Amino acid sequence: MRLWQKIALLNIVIIITMSMLTAFIIRSITINAMRSEGLIQGESIATNLSDRISELLLYEDYYNASEVISEFINKERDLRYIFITDLNGKLFAHTFKEGHPKEMLNWNPIAKDSTKSVQLLNTEEGNITDIAVRIFAGMPAELHIGIKEDRMIKTLNSIRNYMILLTASVIIAGALLSFVLSRMITKPLEQLNEFTDNLSRGDFGRQVQISSRDEVGRLADTFNNLSKELLLYKERTEESYKQMLRTEKLTALGRLSGGLAHEIKNPLMPIKTLFQAFRDNPQITRQDVDIVLSSVEQIDDVVTKFIGFARNDTLNYSDIYVNAIIKDILELIEFQIKEQGISLQIELSKTPPLSGDRPMLKQAIFNILLNAVEAMPEGGKLRVQTSQRGEYIIIDISDTGIGIPAEIQEKIFDPFFTTKKDGTGLGLSISYNIIRMHKGQLQCKSDVGETTFSITLPAANKT
Ligand SMILES: Nc1ncnc2c1ncn2[C@@H]1O[C@H](COP(=O)(O)OP(=O)(O)OP(=O)(O)O)[C@@H](O)[C@H]1O
Ligand SMILES: [Mg+2]
Repeated sequence: MRLWQKIALLNIVIIITMSMLTAFIIRSITINAMRSEGLIQGESIATNLSDRISELLLYEDYYNASEVISEFINKERDLRYIFITDLNGKLFAHTFKEGHPKEMLNWNPIAKDSTKSVQLLNTEEGNITDIAVRIFAGMPAELHIGIKEDRMIKTLNSIRNYMILLTASVIIAGALLSFVLSRMITKPLEQLNEFTDNLSRGDFGRQVQISSRDEVGRLADTFNNLSKELLLYKERTEESYKQMLRTEKLTALGRLSGGLAHEIKNPLMPIKTLFQAFRDNPQITRQDVDIVLSSVEQIDDVVTKFIGFARNDTLNYSDIYVNAIIKDILELIEFQIKEQGISLQIELSKTPPLSGDRPMLKQAIFNILLNAVEAMPEGGKLRVQTSQRGEYIIIDISDTGIGIPAEIQEKIFDPFFTTKKDGTGLGLSISYNIIRMHKGQLQCKSDVGETTFSITLPAANKT
């Protein structure tokens, strides 16, 4: 249930409860007021009548007494009956047309020391208030009048109808009003809610339009300022990030070209020396040709690897099983492994395929495996392990070779960084690049006696 619906419902419940309570209180007050008013009137009627009748009773003028009370009962609409007892307490006259009730004389007796009495009689015709007055003080002669509550009930009924109508109108009007009001109150809150949702999604710079000057309006102002500031901050961060990238790229380019120049200059030196000597002594030996050839090959090797490193082709995707690639590579370097007396431990577990460029990934794993073999010229243990962790495939390559000193661990992925006499220093940087292009990670850990390279690659998404 939404906030505005909750508020509206709460309002309606309050309105209904209040209306019902008010109606009930008004009804009780009205009943009490009407009863006491009726009583006062009834008592005055009874006293008047008793004055008029007293003389007729003394003369035992039954005929006139009956006349007077009949006339009276016809005149007073609320009177149900009148009866009179004589000086001996016996029934003298009454207004019952079809015989009087037998136990009538026991109704509403007046206490000895009192002059009047009131009693509510519960009869078949409904509630009747019997008002009795003594006609002569200290004598048993009494006058009783019975007042019906019909009129009061009718009035109460019509009051009740009005009350129902009024309560229903109040409830309907209240419900409508609370719907409108709750919508009015909660609409800005909903706007704010949507706005903060957008903010949390990174949609900065938007403004929420709330015109009210209350707490919600002030909150909206604060959020609007925040949104502006966040946008500014985002723009500045992006700008400085771009600048950083530019500087980083330039530095990398400088380092790369420096490395490349150095790598090419080295083999060029013997060629240059040879040609200088050739100028003075134009005799060329087979050994000279071998030197030139090996130098040119070295340049070729550097340039080919560099091209491989700098290459940023689009990948030629296919489903690849890393275990198959590892087996292929191991076949390639089997001879070297055996010759160096390296013992091989292979632990390949069943892994799902990954989507990638087969030749590139083969190159990446090859470089790492070759480094491991090259690190154990005197033999050792090479362990190749594959496993799966969630959505990722892990390849661990460990060797017990010379290890990597802590101070150079940071540099081994840099292009042209090498500690080998004839290494180009491009192997690991090429592997790093390829793995990164496959959204994977390459990590290295070298402790005493064991160096491990871990490749993490995402498995193919089969959705
Ligand atoms: N398994 C390893 N054990 C010890 N040192 C390693 C290992 N793998 C890499 N290194 C270090 O990292 C350096 C960089 O390796 P990288 O493969 O990039 O170049 P390289 O092997 O020297 O040259 P190239 O790959 O062209 O033969 C290596 O020279 C070596 O010092
Ligand atoms: Mg290498």
